[in-house]
Amino acid sequence: MVDLLLGLQWGDEGKGKIVDVLTKNYDIIARFQGGPNAGHTLIFDGNKHVLHTIPSGIFHDNVVNIVGNGVVIDPVIFKKELDNLSKYHIDFKSNLLISRKAHVILPTHRLLDAASETAKGKAKIGSTLKGIGPTYMDKTGRNGFRIGDFELDNWKEKFHALTRKHLSMLDYFDVDIQFNLKELEEEFFIGVKRLKELSFIDSEEYLQQAMQHGKTILAEGAQGSLLDIDFGTYPFVTSSNTTAAGACTGLGVAPNKIGNVFGVFKAYVTRVGSGPFPTELFDENGKTMAKVGHEFGATTGRPRRCGWLDLVALKYAVEINGVTQLMMMKSDVLSGFDSLQIATTYNYKGKKIAHLPYNIESKNVSVNYENVSGWKADITKATNVKDLPQNLLDYVKIIEDFVGVPVKIVSVGPDRKQTIFI
Ligand code: GDP
Ligand code: IMO
Ligand code: MG
Repeated sequence: MVDLLLGLQWGDEGKGKIVDVLTKNYDIIARFQGGPNAGHTLIFDGNKHVLHTIPSGIFHDNVVNIVGNGVVIDPVIFKKELDNLSKYHIDFKSNLLISRKAHVILPTHRLLDAASETAKGKAKIGSTLKGIGPTYMDKTGRNGFRIGDFELDNWKEKFHALTRKHLSMLDYFDVDIQFNLKELEEEFFIGVKRLKELSFIDSEEYLQQAMQHGKTILAEGAQGSLLDIDFGTYPFVTSSNTTAAGACTGLGVAPNKIGNVFGVFKAYVTRVGSGPFPTELFDENGKTMAKVGHEFGATTGRPRRCGWLDLVALKYAVEINGVTQLMMMKSDVLSGFDSLQIATTYNYKGKKIAHLPYNIESKNVSVNYENVSGWKADITKATNVKDLPQNLLDYVKIIEDFVGVPVKIVSVGPDRKQTIFI
């Protein structure tokens, strides 16, 4: 069986931290979608690490980390990630395996991402500019370049042909994007050289064998359910299926082999980039969340928008993913508020509704809140559920009753140790 861990909001829920915490229970950690648009933060022993493509189990010995076929890989960023980990003496050759079917982000994919965003002007997605959209477009358009292509003698021909195509596409966008192709290609070739020192595998076959031998596997999602290409706030989404189904296609694991589905959410909500956000705050409360929660993107450094917990959206995500256990993150950030608001219904086209409709732009949706009491205590040193204030436990109970799934972890700080199992 394969357990899944994924984000239920607009990303940055704290997935990396929880994967790291749970890794001791698994033999294999496998990323199934997304690419270096992700930034997963791990903090332990006084050190902070941000991983973009490498799975969050990498710091544990005897755990195999797999980058699955659903992921898109930028060799330049991948090399930087490996370099950042050099002092840990990790055996990458045997602990970090890459699917031959994963697609490759070319330098020109990044340029196309930038050109597309610039051309959109105010309507831009707010992409991370990592080339994610154009790479997935080439994948579904059947023009993509895959990791397995690096094993071909003439891979450079294929690379140059696709690059030429991208350059002609860049001409289509009537925008001024400055770049030095020679430099970009040199950097890319250095990244490829490093990447080729790792092990490329047929990861679906590897995982099938692992399952037959009783190995325990955790699939790590990137982004969040509301950024899903099908079920998110389209077009302000990423270009992959971030939901549970994406783990099946992104790893080659059948639906009946999925075990637990761990849904990670923040005790409030954040979003980085453009797009609708019904419970977004523009007042002091929002500023406090951003400040106390250090809400700046782990990949781009952009400030994250903050707002109250939205149970309408959370329930939608729980249902689409078949979540079996919830993990509530950043509970400590809400300490100190006199009262808290929780969204329980939307007003949509003159009706009160409790599900996420087709369009949640502010002109269509307003929010009805339940007001609950906050808690004052500093909970960052709590180690047991008994240490948590009753008002926080009541907050958890409201969530559980609303979505019908138990909360099994309450996170009270960024460190690995600041994790309370319920
Ligand atoms: P991911 O993309 O889902 O892995 O999340 P990110 O790493 O992008 O963002 C989560 C941020 O919150 C990181 O800076 C974490 O170190 C931090 N974090 C995680 N859990 C907690 C928590 O319980 N409390 C606080 N204060 N910070 C947390
Ligand atoms: P993790 O895994 C938060 C957002 C971008 C933008 C939209 C599309 O760290 O949770 P893209 O570059 O994918 O074309 O951008 O998606 N986005 C994320 N937001 N966390 C992420 O990943 C994100 N990955 C993409 O900000 O709005
Ligand atoms: Mg992140």
